[in-house]
Amino acid sequence: MAVTTKGAALKPLDVMQDAPVIPVIVLDDVAQAVPLARALVEGGIRMLEVTLRTPAALRCIEAIAREVPGAVAGAGTVRSAEDARAAAQAGARFAVSPGYTSAIGAACRDAGLPLLPGVSTGSEILLAQQDGLNEVKFFPAVPAGGTAMLKAFAGPFPDVRFCPTGGITAANAKEFLGLSNVVCVGGSWLTPADAVKSGDWGRITQLAREATKLR
Ligand code: 3PG
Repeated sequence: MAVTTKGAALKPLDVMQDAPVIPVIVLDDVAQAVPLARALVEGGIRMLEVTLRTPAALRCIEAIAREVPGAVAGAGTVRSAEDARAAAQAGARFAVSPGYTSAIGAACRDAGLPLLPGVSTGSEILLAQQDGLNEVKFFPAVPAGGTAMLKAFAGPFPDVRFCPTGGITAANAKEFLGLSNVVCVGGSWLTPADAVKSGDWGRITQLAREATKLR
């Protein structure tokens, strides 16, 4: 079943393996959501993390889920069980969190949302693994130790796959993607605030296209 098929159950690895980069998106205006999503899909990026950081975020997820069948809208910055439920209700197909609690894990499981939980320490990885989560977001990747930290995690956690996010750019993404325990990276560089604000969708498509070639 194609990953974009509505209603198809996704696994965390489906979300991670679709492209080398999951764009971290901040939207203030619901009118920007659909053209932005179309621009990213045009460039080959379908898994879209819309962060729940703005009042418009849930409506943006709804709009993308309804109007851009080629995209898979997910929710980022999920910080509570309520956020997870609201995201699922809006049509999100996956969730990303900056940290992890079992309450978030349970809410995502109940809502059928694959979750990439944020971790930056061994204890947080153990907590996620205790709840059955072996695919995680390493956040904030660069400040928390970058590639050296990921290499160090590979020894005790050979079964964990990472999506490093936070401080990743077009310039350093390849270094992260070259690690055996990294499946994809996350980052906001595909959707620069000025390009979103001015509606420069062509630039965003170009950035997405370049991102698909990173792996
Ligand atoms: C975030 O939560 O803002 C992400 O980690 C994105 O970080 P970046 O802007 O450094 O890509």
